[in-house]
Formats: sequence, C-alpha cells, structure tokens
Amino acid sequence: MCGIVCYVGNKDAKPILLEGLKRLEYRGYDSAGLAVQDGEKIRWSRAVGKIVELESKLNGVEMKGTIGIAHTRWATHGEPSEENAHPQRDRDENVFVIHNGIIENYHTLRKKLEREGISFRSETDTEVLAHLIALNFTGDLSDAVRKTMSQVEGTFGIGVIHRFTPGEIVVARRGSPLIIGVSDEGHFVASDVAAMARYTNKVVHLEDNELASVTVDDFSISTAQAKHIVRSTETVEWRAQDAELNGFPHFMLKEIYEQPMTVKNAIRGRLEPGEGVPKLGGIMPVWDKLKECRHMVLVACGTSHYAACVGKYIFEKLTEIDTEVGLASEFRYRKLNFPPNTFVIAISQSGETADTLAAIREAKRKGASLLGIVNVVGSSISRETDAGIYNHAGPEIGVASTKNFTSQLTILTLLALLLGRHQSLSLTEGIQAIRALESLPDLMQRVLSQANHIEAISEKYYRCRNWLFLGRKYNYPIAMEGALKLKEVSYIHAEGYAAGEMKHGPIALINPEMPTVAIIPKDEMYEKMTSNIHEVKSRKGPVIAIATEGDDRIRDVVDDLIEVPATLDFLNPLLTVIPCQLLAYYCAKFLDRDIDKPRNLAKSVTVE
Ligand code: F6R
Repeated sequence: MCGIVCYVGNKDAKPILLEGLKRLEYRGYDSAGLAVQDGEKIRWSRAVGKIVELESKLNGVEMKGTIGIAHTRWATHGEPSEENAHPQRDRDENVFVIHNGIIENYHTLRKKLEREGISFRSETDTEVLAHLIALNFTGDLSDAVRKTMSQVEGTFGIGVIHRFTPGEIVVARRGSPLIIGVSDEGHFVASDVAAMARYTNKVVHLEDNELASVTVDDFSISTAQAKHIVRSTETVEWRAQDAELNGFPHFMLKEIYEQPMTVKNAIRGRLEPGEGVPKLGGIMPVWDKLKECRHMVLVACGTSHYAACVGKYIFEKLTEIDTEVGLASEFRYRKLNFPPNTFVIAISQSGETADTLAAIREAKRKGASLLGIVNVVGSSISRETDAGIYNHAGPEIGVASTKNFTSQLTILTLLALLLGRHQSLSLTEGIQAIRALESLPDLMQRVLSQANHIEAISEKYYRCRNWLFLGRKYNYPIAMEGALKLKEVSYIHAEGYAAGEMKHGPIALINPEMPTVAIIPKDEMYEKMTSNIHEVKSRKGPVIAIATEGDDRIRDVVDDLIEVPATLDFLNPLLTVIPCQLLAYYCAKFLDRDIDKPRNLAKSVTVE
C-alpha cells in the first residue's frame, strides 16, 4: 500500500528519494510523487503509474535541495491521477504533505473548509491535512501538525514540509507505521525500512500519536500532548542485498527458492533435539500462563490466514488445546466470549495488517492474552502483542507471500510441539517431530529441483481460465492457498476446496478445459482423495496431482504428477505448497503478468 520516504541530510535529496521510492514499489501503488525544498523554494512533481514515469518526468528538471518528502500512492479516495497523487499542498503552496492511511472525518472537514472559502484541487482525504496544517501554522510546524492531529479522526503516517521552516521535516503517526533512520548522510523517515536499508540499519520507531521534528543532525520526538520522548536507536537485521534480485528474474521466484534457508532460519537455535522440545525465547514472558492455556484462537488475513488454518490441524494433532481460526477482517464483529486463559495469536508477515491489528485490539479488550507470529521486526503487531516469535525470513518483496507462509507453518509447528510436550506428547514423538523438522530444508530443495517439470506443466495449462484446487485436512488450506496464489499473480480464476465438498457444488464446473490440482500425499486422507480424483477424471477433467514420491498408483490415474518427498503428515503442507507456488509463478510468466506487483494488490494492507 502507500509508501513514505523522507530525507534531510547533506546530499542531494532527489536521487535518494527516487531510490527510496523504488525500494517501496513492492508494496503496491498506482502513482507517485515527491517535493524537494531548497531554502524557501519547494519544487514538486507527481506522476501516474510506475516510478520510472516520475523519473522520466523529472529528467533534466532542476530540483536542488537536501531535504524532501516522497510517496507512492495506492488509491483509496479518488482515482489514480496526477492531482490525487501526493504530495498534496495547501492553497498558498506553503505546506506539502504525504500521507499513508485514511482520514475518516475528511468529508465533514472538507465541507467545513469549503464553507470557509477553500477550494480543493483533488478528491483526496490528504488535501484536508495540507489545508488544516496551513491554517494552524503560526511559526512552529510541530505545533501546527499537533493541532491538526487533534482535529482529524482515522489513521495516518504523514511527512510534512513548510516553506517557512526550511531544514525541517515534521512526521506524525497514528495507526500507520513510521520509522526514523539515522545515518552518516543525515536522517530518513520511512514507512518501511526497505526504503533506507542502503544507508542505515539504525532506526527509531515512532509510536501511535507521536510526532517528530527531524533535521539534518537531530530529531526530537514528542506526543500529541507535547510531552518530550527520549528513545534510543535499534539495529535492524535488514541487509540492503536482501532486497535485490541476485540473478533471479522476479522476487517471487527468488523467495520461493529461499524457502529451504528461511525454514532453517525459523528453526535455528530453537530446537533441543535430545529433549524433543523446541525452545522459544520470545514467548518466555508469558510462558507460565501459556502452558496452562486450553483455548487458542489464530487470527490472520490472506495467506497468513491459510497458515493459521493448517496451524489449527497441527495444534489439534500435537496438543490438547481447543484451537479455532478467525479471519481477522470478520473477527472483531463477532460477539467474543473467551474462556479464561485464552490466547489469541496474530499471524502476519508485515505486522501492519489493519484487520489483524483491529482483531487483536478487540481480543485484548475482551481479556485474551496476545501472541504474535510476525516477520517484520518492530512492526505494530510485534509491539502490541504480549510476546511473540519472529519468522526471521528476511524481507519479502514479491507481493504474493511465499516464503513467509512456510516460515509461519514452521513456527506454528514449533509452538504446538512445545505446548504438546508439556501435555501428552511423548519424548519419542517429540524427537521424531524435531528430526522431521530438521530434514525439511533438504526435502524442500528436492521439490524445488522439479521446477522445470512444473514449468512444463504450467505451459500445458496456462491458457485454461478456471482451475480447481482440492485437498483434505492439512492440505485443504494448501488447496485454498494454491488457488489464491494462482489468482493473485496470473489473474486466472481458481477455487480452493475441501475435496469432500466438491460433490456439493463445484463438480458442476468440471470439464476438459478446467484443470484440477489434487493434493494427495500418502496420509490418512489418501483413499478419500483418490476417490475424488476419479470423480474428476470420470467427468473428463484433467488432473495434476501433487503426491508422495513413488506413488505409482496415482501416476496411472492422473494426467500430470508432481512428486514431494515423504515426511510426517502434519509437515506435508510445507512441501505440497511449493508446487502450488511454482505453478502460479510459471502460469503468470507465460501470461506475461507483472508477477512481483500484480494489479490492484498491495504488500502491506494498512486499511480495513
Ligand atoms: C497473499 C498475500 C496476502 C497477505 C495478507 C496478510 O499472497 O500476500 O493475502 O497474506 O494481506 O498479510 P500479512 O501477513 O502481512 O498480515
């Protein structure tokens, strides 16, 4: 979604801001813009489309200055157009604002401002901020922003410059992340560390309802009530080269291939093989309560929600805990009534998903304890939960989530195993699970070695406009995830179904033009899945099976076969999801789609 990058330092701002914007491209956007200040002069430019459009517009344009603000916009109020892109400015072009989030009372504010004679140039909620800050300005930009914060409702991360306060950027946050970066070249402020990773890994997180005045050699944080805050810098593990393609044609493919390593990172230092128990330092602050927990709710959105759906089966297998899954976007509208000592676990790659944040806030209000399974260190969910476990998967740049899904599954397994070992799970079962987890990266590598074969299958079917994915139990969520991946990156319509449900409706769709991906590893569901495959075949539907290595029986029935190595039943999803990811990737490649930045999608969904 929208991205913010601001810079104040000793170098030319324009190229630094453009580079920062490019590093935010993966978040999804439809227009971009920047403003650079040179003394009392502010020059700005905006363009619809990709950053290269903005860049070519700026080609040859003189834009001197070592301070500036820049933005990628993902339209919410008003279509993608140059006038709706950010920065937005006030009537006299003194104030320039970039904004992530949504101002909920903008309509009322806009009407009021219009009655006072202010005419609007755009359809955006952000323009309201520019006019309000201009009206509230009496010489101190922080004061003007603070007063504006008290007038607006909704969420925001903003960056503001004013013609009459050269050398200063004021930033403020409520619900939309902002991070200050400290480097030898000056200070950065961004919505995402990726924007400044090339210059620094020393950061300070702004909390909700705080603002900061940032200059070349200092920054000062204060609350909306003008209380001064002292906060020291943190070091983030993010390396600039993690956000590079390193020879891969797309981030999605690179991230699919990283999975053996990211799963290794998720278990590194977290296993006690001899004891058959994982050790998870991040949850120690709540351990006494957690080990007594008998009711657990996993909340998440999208791909993370499908990880939660697999997690539920894993918790049921390894623990005595009654586990349910909540779709975060629906969860807060339920009448929540938790049994005592309920833990709600938020699963989120970005740690910023608005629906997931809203769900945990509601759960907290209703007395639940909160855990987070999050990739982005220091993100809002990691800060608002009582304890948590990081994925350690590194930056995920492809908009379609891949490596984080398998990291989330790994961590859910570790957590279930830890709790199960304090309940009825035996030492032998614990040791067996740990051995299986340790061997996963090699098994994943074996699946990846079939990429050419999966590419050939994709070439055979990519023209089909409708696909069906079927699975049972642990692999039912993989069917849904496989369908989601295919829709997202190739724009092919796909449905993910519990195989048993097929005959209750979707079977009506089966025909020779509709491929079915059947996920059928050798587990307790095998015979039932085989029957479902026969049902598809007898209606002349082509079947691509994802089955366990050496399954000759299924080979004779299906049209195409992708083999995965054998592992424990509850770990199969970590292997079966990889062919689904690759099928989606290669179909999108044959259809010439914008794989890393599919249309209309955003990496971090910070609006509800
Ligand atoms: C799908 C995808 C989305 C995210 C969802 C939740 O490929 O990326 O469905 O999984 O928006 O995002 P996080 O995990 O950041 O909360």
